[in-house]
Amino acid sequence: MSGTPLNLVVLGLTGDLSRRLLLPALVRLHMEGRLPPLRLLGFGAEAWGEEEVRERLGAFIAQRPELDPRAWAEVRGWIRYRQAAISPQGLAPLRGLEGPALFYLALPPRLFPKAATALGRLGLARERTGWRRIAVEKPFGQDLASAQRLNRVLHRHFREEQVLRMDHFLGKRAVENLLALRRHNPSLEALWGRAGVAYVEITYAETLGLEGRAAYYEGTGALRDMLQNHLLQLLALVAMDPPARLEALSLRAAKAEALRALEAASPKAAARGQYQGYGEEPGVRPGSRTETFAALRLFSTAPRWQGVPFYLRSGKRLSGAFGHVALAFHPGPRGAGGRLLLRLKPEVGLALALQGEAGEEVLEFRLGPEPEFGAYEEILLAALEGDLTHFPSEVEVEEAWRVVEPVLQAWRRGRPEVYPQGSPGPEAQHRLLLPGHRWLEGGGKA
Ligand code: BG6
Repeated sequence: MSGTPLNLVVLGLTGDLSRRLLLPALVRLHMEGRLPPLRLLGFGAEAWGEEEVRERLGAFIAQRPELDPRAWAEVRGWIRYRQAAISPQGLAPLRGLEGPALFYLALPPRLFPKAATALGRLGLARERTGWRRIAVEKPFGQDLASAQRLNRVLHRHFREEQVLRMDHFLGKRAVENLLALRRHNPSLEALWGRAGVAYVEITYAETLGLEGRAAYYEGTGALRDMLQNHLLQLLALVAMDPPARLEALSLRAAKAEALRALEAASPKAAARGQYQGYGEEPGVRPGSRTETFAALRLFSTAPRWQGVPFYLRSGKRLSGAFGHVALAFHPGPRGAGGRLLLRLKPEVGLALALQGEAGEEVLEFRLGPEPEFGAYEEILLAALEGDLTHFPSEVEVEEAWRVVEPVLQAWRRGRPEVYPQGSPGPEAQHRLLLPGHRWLEGGGKA
């Protein structure tokens, strides 16, 4: 990649996503010396001059003490800006762009189809002078039908390998750890499935609330925000048959197969909650039925996992900030079995709990907290390098929507159960569990 500078074309450079996520990530990557030579070509709705855009973006960067002003001074020098509508006319200055280019859509999702079409019509998806890729932030659709429509539009101009659907969980260190664990311990595979595992729990609990994101979150809710993408990706990585080779297309195919094997979620095996006081958050509609907590019980039809429930849950304003994937082993005569725990946060690591003479013994292997050079930066770097391993495919995204669809439909009616802030979430989550199964609270001792 050295030599010709890479064109990072940002549609929506003056928007919230650019200043909150994209620019800070670029500065961090540059601080680590990880970026290739770049040209940053920004387009946005604001009628600001180039220098004004740099100034305004700089004001946001200055609020982030972890970002080195010297690195920013260099990044800001790369920025070019034009006010433009998202249309072939607006983006016409890009016609004839030379060299490799990543088109990054930092736009409201309703503009994704327009943007992809405009880029395509301008011939920018064609790889005559270098590779071309398009990066799309979530939400990737609102349901199965809208995700399929979006995929169709993208594919009118871009091949599947050119489409990068951003899911920052795939940049988390715990995901690398999970892949390594499965790959380097083939003996575990004998236990990995119904033979060894009674049930699987995937939890991602947050103490954060809405954080001023009502405009996005109100029409989204926890099921779409966390379960459909991040948690089902984790499930796919756990449930897949390990690919023979750890290269992107094999991994994507293995995950797609795992998701395809999932039965669609049943509304009877789903629970939702809303934290007390959510209705008073700025920007929230009075009487909103948006869920801030969602839980599902899922089953796979894959022979490896037949009869093994997968429990998924995530919520905001809960009692703790912890995330884990727990594989609970079959119970022994004492009633409890052991478990293997993959920790996502606050620490990244593994824990193994086994029944010993004195009861449960727990071994902890810590990899430390998620590094500051975080998941989002990893994903952005992978996008710039074109490493597809970190991006869910069309099939994966659509299968994940298929799985949650019946619950999305059912939740258009009724209301979520209200839970107190700082609590473990709604009572309804416990009704999903089959006898003898439990959620691990507070990250669990193991
Ligand atoms: C995002 C969701 O994708 O993931 C947020 O939109 C959520 O609502 C976040 O808070 C959690 O991920 P992390 O890595 O910030 O803990």
